[in-house]
Amino acid sequence: MNVASSPHALMKVNSWHNQLLQWLERLYASPKLYQWSLSNPFTRWITKRRTQQIFDLMSGFVYSQVLLGCVRLDLFKMLYQRPLDLSQISAQTNLPEPALQRLLLSAVSLGLLEHRSHERFGLGALGVPMAMHPGIGAMVEHNHLLYQDIQDPLAFLNNAWRGGMADYWPYAHDEQAADRAAQEKFSRYSDLMASSQGFVVQEILSAYYFDDHRCVLDVGAGKGRFASELALHAKHLQLKLFDLPPVLELAKANFQSKGLLDRMTACPGNFLHDALPQGADLVTLVRVAHDHPDEVVQQLLQKIHDALPVGGTLLLAEPMAQSPSRGGDVATQTDTYFHFYLLAMGAGRLRTPEELMQMMGRAGFSNIEQVPNRMPIHAQIILGRKHQCLP
Ligand SMILES: C[S@@+](CC[C@H](N)C(=O)[O-])C[C@H]1O[C@@H](n2cnc3c(N)ncnc32)[C@H](O)[C@@H]1O
Repeated sequence: MNVASSPHALMKVNSWHNQLLQWLERLYASPKLYQWSLSNPFTRWITKRRTQQIFDLMSGFVYSQVLLGCVRLDLFKMLYQRPLDLSQISAQTNLPEPALQRLLLSAVSLGLLEHRSHERFGLGALGVPMAMHPGIGAMVEHNHLLYQDIQDPLAFLNNAWRGGMADYWPYAHDEQAADRAAQEKFSRYSDLMASSQGFVVQEILSAYYFDDHRCVLDVGAGKGRFASELALHAKHLQLKLFDLPPVLELAKANFQSKGLLDRMTACPGNFLHDALPQGADLVTLVRVAHDHPDEVVQQLLQKIHDALPVGGTLLLAEPMAQSPSRGGDVATQTDTYFHFYLLAMGAGRLRTPEELMQMMGRAGFSNIEQVPNRMPIHAQIILGRKHQCLP
């Protein structure tokens, strides 16, 4: 056994590490250190940054509400390429100038808007994507439900599926949702998913080559935005879409409107109870696993493995948790959002790439690897293959 990894050596390292952390904690708690670090030009920036971070944590809800206010007033579209002054914006939004000014100045301080000549307001660097991508505005509006649910965080943690989010996502905690919930609920979440899926689709299409595949089965396909964009991206592919029956009706309409109906097969079903259709050599699972508890995901991965031919591939893409063992360039704050979002929604959870890879391994996949992609905040991508040689 390597001496450094023997239990005794590890305990020693851990105890040194813990002592160091406790010493640092006492050091940070000292008011003298605060004063000293502010007076020292080499350390001042660290203390200033920490203070700003605490302030941001405290005021994050106000930032979100400023963003929601701007979205509801349609300010980003209004000001795109057309800066306006306070009175002009007031006339268009029917808000009194003194109150509106607070919103505009707050949006300037957050980088959403910026000051322009003649006392006008134009779009800031963060306002431009808001104007260009309606899906972000739709998520901002949708998050309002989440923020209502978690207003009292301890009450929420004690009783998470009582609020508007659980009602919004019927399948995430109700096995019979497909039979019970009204069609309107499936349309509502499918529209939101389709409008927020653009960034995820781009990540997948730019990270993976589909040329070697013949037929793709998209499980949990929603309205089929990913599958239809894939059909346009790789014109040789046949597409099979699997989702709950009320959702697949929407997907068919989407494929029909794009003239792609002859390349798609709708396979309505419930992966909790039904087997998956065979015939595809690539299965895609996009933003589905994180909605479900471990036992459901494990069973689903097994069903995918069963449905694939030998040599077939699974591509799993969704937002994933920061791995404690690896640095990575995904901001850890995004984990916070998804931990709470998924709890408010139902029984799913955010998983690290390693956890998902282990689950894929248990379902029989081999050659499992993470495919690097440019913007992991939208989704990370894992591939697994059904081994050529069966045991
Ligand atoms: C979060 S949405 C993701 C949709 C799409 N893949 C995307 O990224 O926009 C999850 C999808 O899984 C489907 N789904 C959930 N539970 C299911 C089940 N038991 N059987 C089949 N589909 C299910 C939902 O109807 C929904 O369309």
